[in-house]
Amino acid sequence: MTRGRIAGTGSYLPARVLTNAELEARIDTSDIWIRERTGIAQRHIAAADETCSDLAEHAARAAIEAAGLNASDIDLIIVATSTPDQVFPSTACRLLERLGIPGGIPAFDLAAACSGFVYALDTANRFIRTGGASRALVIGAEVFSRILDWDDRGTCVLFGDGAGAVVLEATEAEGPSGAGILSTHLHADGRQEPLLNVPWGVGQGYEALADRRGCVTMRGNEVFRVAVRTLGNLVDETLAANGLERGDVDWLVPHQANIRIMAATARKLGLPMERMVSTVAEHGNTSAASIPLALDRAVRDGRIQRGELLLLEAFGAGFTWGSALVRY
Ligand code: COA
Repeated sequence: MTRGRIAGTGSYLPARVLTNAELEARIDTSDIWIRERTGIAQRHIAAADETCSDLAEHAARAAIEAAGLNASDIDLIIVATSTPDQVFPSTACRLLERLGIPGGIPAFDLAAACSGFVYALDTANRFIRTGGASRALVIGAEVFSRILDWDDRGTCVLFGDGAGAVVLEATEAEGPSGAGILSTHLHADGRQEPLLNVPWGVGQGYEALADRRGCVTMRGNEVFRVAVRTLGNLVDETLAANGLERGDVDWLVPHQANIRIMAATARKLGLPMERMVSTVAEHGNTSAASIPLALDRAVRDGRIQRGELLLLEAFGAGFTWGSALVRY
């Protein structure tokens, strides 16, 4: 059976680090509050002239190199983002030009907020399974600092900028012991949109556009409770679909929103905390970029080894949520 395997990973973080101590000096918050409630100690912030596609390009180049390929080998690009450079062309199309890919291959952006990377991985894997691509570049890239209200302490302390990428390559593999994506599970529910949104967009008419800029609004405590419950059910669904028991997964690579949400998912999976890849302290919540950033970190520092079983999972605005079970 043909399916996608992760051939290489890459990531990029802007140079500027914004610490909790700096936020303390600007708004009514404290380092202790942020670390105890979220696990976040700092986040990276893009430079004024750095865009989503700049971040994505760095991560993409690193992933292509790690896969031992050239950019011309790529035959599909999907960029998961809620903060693209512009309305169109898509960030993915801009990357074609940046990476020197001659053109003709499919390239598009995908919006599923913080679940975007899992959605993009699933989509690329479907291309590969049906023969539509053999070496897909799957990227999560965000400049959330541009859509934050820096006076709203309930949201601005949580997010950061960054990009992560994988090259998903076609492989012939059978069963759960073979390399590649074993299963994906995607969901969405639009009924609770007001709990987490950016209520602004170019399609909303002149009055809204006059405001010029939209920011993240969130009812954090309610989102927290839905996220924990939903991710618990997602773990059950993923394990059951693959005939697995708690404790069978080697690594949890979760969306990095809040250490308490992540820890609840690890407990549900029967995994000790050291088997969960956590970058939330240093990166904050980088939305669609957080999973490939964490994955790249644990691959490069040697924690994640070939043949191990990874659970990638995310929950985000929409609500959207999803998982990918991957034999690395
Ligand atoms: N610094 C200090 N105090 C803050 C604060 C900050 N940065 N942000 C909020 N507070 C205050 C609130 O105003 C509130 O004060 P009050 O009791 O006087 O009204 C108090 O802290 C508790 O607020 P609450 O929202 O109930 O805190 P919480 O324990 O739920 O933590 C979040 C807040 C945002 C950290 C938490 O709800 C969370 O992480 N939610 C999920 C967010 C998420 O994952 N979003 C993205 C999904 S992809």
